Amino acid sequence: MKRAIPRHIGIIMDGNGRWAEMRGLPRSEGHKRGVERAKEIMEAAGSLGVEVLSLYAFSIENWRRPEDEIGVIMGLLENTLKHQLETFMLEKIRFRVLGDRSRLPEHIRSLIEITEQATAHNSRLTAQFALSYGGRDEIIRAVRRAIRERIEPERITEALFSSMLDTEGQPDPDLIVRTSGELRLSNFLPWQSAYAEFYFTGTLWPDFTRQEFLDAIHDYRMRERRFGTVKPGVQ
Ligand code: FPP
Repeated sequence: MKRAIPRHIGIIMDGNGRWAEMRGLPRSEGHKRGVERAKEIMEAAGSLGVEVLSLYAFSIENWRRPEDEIGVIMGLLENTLKHQLETFMLEKIRFRVLGDRSRLPEHIRSLIEITEQATAHNSRLTAQFALSYGGRDEIIRAVRRAIRERIEPERITEALFSSMLDTEGQPDPDLIVRTSGELRLSNFLPWQSAYAEFYFTGTLWPDFTRQEFLDAIHDYRMRERRFGTVKPGVQ
């Protein structure tokens, strides 16, 4: 029997740079094309009934990239936020950001807050961008918060700790997709992905179509998930 559509899908959108370099184009062209793919996949996720889509757009490690490339990515983000609000409202998409936003430029931070507030009551799909995000950093921020709030050690359970992460209140990812042939998690939702299924493809992110997204979901639905138990009826 096929499993249900994943409630939460995480995507590591990798390969923009290589896509551009293979064509003799500047890396910025790969990122621009990558934004178009992200929009298409958000729409597809919304229409399929996925509840949460988490897109890894900028890792904490990405701050080490050349300044001009960071500028291009921040510019694309600013542009996307300014132009997508209407679509988010029409498509009932709630926009959120995961990560340490204190490192983002002030004007981007305020655009993020405006968009988060405006879309807070949209309920069809939560589309969240991991920006200046690192999973270990997220865990450290949660630990610091627990200590600051003087939570008794015995009160700390998996559920309480989960509620202190950036993904508070959301189901864990059922499926993590990574494009471009790399077989790593790269610090993306490590706590939340403990039981996730993985789908790796050699396709570079700018070539990742709606059809391949559907293929990934189909592949997931054909798999068996046991969460450490055995199939019912097995002795
Ligand atoms: C991965 O390709 C992409 C990124 C590191 C960041 C940019 C992501 C996008 C532009 C998609 C949508 C995001 C926004 C901001 C709305 P890479 O540069 O790591 O590729 P490479 O591994 O081939 O060099």
